[in-house]
Amino acid sequence: MLLRDKLTGETKDMKKVDEARIEELLSQLTLEEKIGMIHGEGLFQTAGVARLGIPPLKMSDGPMGVRKEFALDSWVNTSTTDDKVSYLPSNSALASTWNREMAYKTGQVLGAEARGRGKDVILAPGINIKRSPLCGRNFEYMSEDPRLIEELVVPLIKGIQENDVAACLKHFVANNQETDRLEVDTYLDERTLREIYMPGFKAAIDKAETHSIMGAYNRLYGEYCCQSKYLLTTILRDEWAYDGAVISDWGGVHDTKEAAESDLDIEMSVVSNFDEYYMANPLLEAVRAGEIQEECIDKKIRNILRTMLRLNMLGDDRKNRVSGTYNSPEHQKEILECARESIILLKNDDQRLPLQKDKIKSLAVIGQNGERVHSNGGGSAEIKALYEISPLLGLKMELGGAVDVKYAKGYYVPTKEEKKINWQIDSLDKEQMDKYEEESQDRLNQLQKEIESKQEELLAQAVLLAKETEDVILVVGLDHEYDVEGKDRKDMKLPYGQDRLIKEVLAVNPNAIVVLIAGSPVEMESWADDAKAIVWSYYAGMEGGRALAEILLGKVNPSGKLAETLPRKLEDSPAHSLGEFGLYGKVTYNEGVFVGYRYFDSHNTDVQFPFGHGLSYTKFEYSNLMVSIDESSMEDDLIVKIKATIKNTGNQAGAEVVQVYVADKEASVSRPVHELKGFDKVYLEPGHEKMVEVILNKDSFGFFDEDGSSFLVEPGEFEIQLASSSRDIRLKELIKIDKEYRYS
Ligand code: BGC
Repeated sequence: MLLRDKLTGETKDMKKVDEARIEELLSQLTLEEKIGMIHGEGLFQTAGVARLGIPPLKMSDGPMGVRKEFALDSWVNTSTTDDKVSYLPSNSALASTWNREMAYKTGQVLGAEARGRGKDVILAPGINIKRSPLCGRNFEYMSEDPRLIEELVVPLIKGIQENDVAACLKHFVANNQETDRLEVDTYLDERTLREIYMPGFKAAIDKAETHSIMGAYNRLYGEYCCQSKYLLTTILRDEWAYDGAVISDWGGVHDTKEAAESDLDIEMSVVSNFDEYYMANPLLEAVRAGEIQEECIDKKIRNILRTMLRLNMLGDDRKNRVSGTYNSPEHQKEILECARESIILLKNDDQRLPLQKDKIKSLAVIGQNGERVHSNGGGSAEIKALYEISPLLGLKMELGGAVDVKYAKGYYVPTKEEKKINWQIDSLDKEQMDKYEEESQDRLNQLQKEIESKQEELLAQAVLLAKETEDVILVVGLDHEYDVEGKDRKDMKLPYGQDRLIKEVLAVNPNAIVVLIAGSPVEMESWADDAKAIVWSYYAGMEGGRALAEILLGKVNPSGKLAETLPRKLEDSPAHSLGEFGLYGKVTYNEGVFVGYRYFDSHNTDVQFPFGHGLSYTKFEYSNLMVSIDESSMEDDLIVKIKATIKNTGNQAGAEVVQVYVADKEASVSRPVHELKGFDKVYLEPGHEKMVEVILNKDSFGFFDEDGSSFLVEPGEFEIQLASSSRDIRLKELIKIDKEYRYS
């Protein structure tokens, strides 16, 4: 079996448990004990039942490492130093590697760290679709493309769960904006829901058996996701046969009866009146009064105990439980590997990069993202990193003492202290949030005045340095004031006057290299044409600065590719030009399935950098496309084998992500001009070539047919495209499918 198949193939029945053990335990539990198990009795844990050897279920965020430790009943850090952990690349960075094995190894690190910290559930990964460039949590998510998400989330979860820790896949579903996140009611057609927003969740259940899932805060078709009959019962339990634990988002439950009778298993929240949670005393009383059947609770307990059995948490199984570890040198090594593959070379005119280490006379790093660390922000993704290498540190470590590296801040960033507010509590309350926005805006305005002259001074210093220095690296972008949970950005512009800084630096030093560190797209129109080299890094973990330096200095050849489109302007983006985004009360996804490149490519909209784009210091040539189609080999499936030769025609080793798009030439519904259906990442020495093979099945050709309530492949012509990005198709071939296929 190819490693690729092992990572993404079917794993149904991976962890069958002894259901009789569940029934036996269940029969011994009192109603009060059951109630304790189905709601938080700490901010991050449920109650155990000591007399039966049932421990509490201990949870922690999150996606970029195990979150710092909080007191049981307040959002105060325990303030010890034993909760420092490895800081992993964010999901947006991981997705840019387009590397399944990397996802698996990253999962292994996260799982081991979570177990090492004594956790049972790690509240990750987040896989919501990047629908708009403005969503505050985009940095936590992977992509605008469901197939890329499917292919990476499966190995990621497998890696996590090998450590006897449950992944908690979040947020189910259509949680694509932070504005009004607790209430907003989302409307999209079923085809879009099934084709775009759900496939990652389904794949994680079918192929990785994610042990837990987190409901989303928002509503879908009027129902709160955390207690939705449609989502949790009809889809998750009945259709997808999911038997793991469903956990609410923190504060996502709104009604005792609805939650109790829904397929939610555990209610968690952000407040510490644990006994008053909807599924605590109010539920106990309702059951006692005969208003709610105890069987509703038993169903939840079964799912929780099943999850505990899968994690080796009960009885003698505990002896076999993986113990995990955190902060190991091996983890740091994996994190560095992942960071290296995540960084994307967007533009490299005149082969401006890499810099030749021995030819550097003087080097200036300009811009505060050069020295800043990001691990301690972002919302629930924040962590207390053991260390974090900034770009400036990484460059100095790589260059040593021979090169005098100068640094200028370039722009002013208000400090955290200046804006101190508890976003996690405030984000639950619109009034508080508005006040927060207003206050921070007022504060910023006031601050802005105070620092205006200082700002001019920083800019002048930077421009002077850029003039005097031969090699200049501008390190700019966003930070977790913008890439943050609980609020969306207002526009796609770079904050802190950075556009002006970049333009003024490029004016005096046209060779300056622009490095963007950000978690979501930013507008670059005003300077992108003038910059010779542009490099993009997401929040890439504790080794991010080292990886970046290695790429800038040519020690590592970049191989990251964009897992999302970088549009030119916000207005171009389909969530804004066709759909609604960032509204209170209700949002409608009028753009339907035309999300990201599905829209841009279908409408020929000019973009800054297309989906799948990423350059290398070497060149790759595509040839010999061979497509064979076999409709008879399997009863109800088809096999389309795609082969092509990829050659490294440059003079250094490198890796290329070969992307396979499928275009349905004639369909009875409106479909995007093409859709990503497969990919492979090939490593090649200079002059070497390899044959890549990608196999597609029927599930790469269909669309969701609402009338037939299933996916449908219509007979007819399909074009198979081999591409280096969604806008750089190198080879293509038409195939004809003769039969109709249906699948779910
Ligand atoms: C977030 C979740 C997170 C939870 C616990 C919520 O505000 O939406 O993603 O896991 O808090 O911190």
